[in-house]
Amino acid sequence: MNKIYLDNNATTAVKKEVLDAMLPYFCEQFGNPSSVHWAGRMVSGAIEKAREQVADLMNCSPAEVIFLSCGSEGDNHAIKGTAEALKHKGNHIITTAVEHPAVLETCAALEKDGFEVTYLKVDKDGMLDLQDLESAITDKTILISVMWANNEMGNIYPIKEIGEIAKKHKVRFHTDAVQAAGKIPLDVRDANVDIAVISGHKIGAPKGVAAMYLKRGTKIGRFMHGGHQERNRRAGTHNVPGIVGLGVACELARTHLEENYSYVRKLRDKLEQGILSSIPEVKLNGHPNPDMRLPNTLNVSFNYIEGESLLLFFDMKGIAASSGSACTSGSLEPSHVMGAMGVEIVLAHSSTRFSLGADNTEEEIDFVLQELPPIVQRLREMSPLYNRTDPAPLTCDECRMVTITVPH
Ligand SMILES: Cc1ncc(COP(=O)(O)O)c(C=O)c1O
Repeated sequence: MNKIYLDNNATTAVKKEVLDAMLPYFCEQFGNPSSVHWAGRMVSGAIEKAREQVADLMNCSPAEVIFLSCGSEGDNHAIKGTAEALKHKGNHIITTAVEHPAVLETCAALEKDGFEVTYLKVDKDGMLDLQDLESAITDKTILISVMWANNEMGNIYPIKEIGEIAKKHKVRFHTDAVQAAGKIPLDVRDANVDIAVISGHKIGAPKGVAAMYLKRGTKIGRFMHGGHQERNRRAGTHNVPGIVGLGVACELARTHLEENYSYVRKLRDKLEQGILSSIPEVKLNGHPNPDMRLPNTLNVSFNYIEGESLLLFFDMKGIAASSGSACTSGSLEPSHVMGAMGVEIVLAHSSTRFSLGADNTEEEIDFVLQELPPIVQRLREMSPLYNRTDPAPLTCDECRMVTITVPH
């Protein structure tokens, strides 16, 4: 059975060039970069090279890059660290209802500590009203946190315009750029961003490494206490192989950005048009204009079907996609992003995300387009929500699926 991976927003395979660059840093060049002896010196140069590669992807100075363990750490650090550093100025934070849990849960934790958080609403297409954003700013606002692009439906947010509003009102601006990195250009200087976070495993580097852009002069509370690594901005011995890998992944992402954009965009558009034209009662989730979404992301709801059952049927054909984000799957609650867009509960439950990568081929998309309509039809016939007359008897496998996925 062919294996077709369409879940690149959940994680990506480590690229061959990335792995090759990392390998020497496990055994031969194993030193701790904080050590002054030869073994430490052997690796500290590699970290500085990676810092330059990350800086080039985001268009900042290498001195503004801090290495971390994951995107969630970066979002936590950006928000909690700002709250700690600026609490004397105010206690109000503005974010959106469609952020990743790494932002939403951090804001919720701060609310328990007396901070006030405005969660901006989005419209039915998942977009923000920038007037709402500007009118939410008060003299107590210390942070605006808006993601560069959404992980579930792929919407790209107007980061430059938000940066201008933040600058005009002298409010710090953090953006979670975890999904945008490697898929669309990131220019943190041009967009007036103060803090941006990217994560290695979304761009062909390994899991467990990430980076934060912290604009020169931005004061931030410490997130981890301990050693004085990263110029005292992040304690903990460096993950040298991971950092080297992240650097190479950033360089590859930057040098192949345009070609990858048009390649995955062509495949995604084909998948999108194929699904919308061949299957009735499908709802596109996210901005209807494909230019306004990440080039690799498609989120659709198949009316009457539980997204999880669709994924199980897909899995039997070797196709990996996702319903909701990987972090929330496992819970049967519909995604908060669908809820924020006002997607009806039944449709929210059936939302399915396809996130492509540069390794996908047109043949794979053709295969999905061939397999999907009969699977959807079969599941609709099993669904008590679907109007049917004379359903065919179910196979054993299908019976098991139905038991697992009784709609609620
Ligand atoms: C938008 C967004 N932010 C943050 C994260 C968390 O990144 P990490 O998995 O590196 O902690 C993710 C991961 O899915 C994400 O999609």
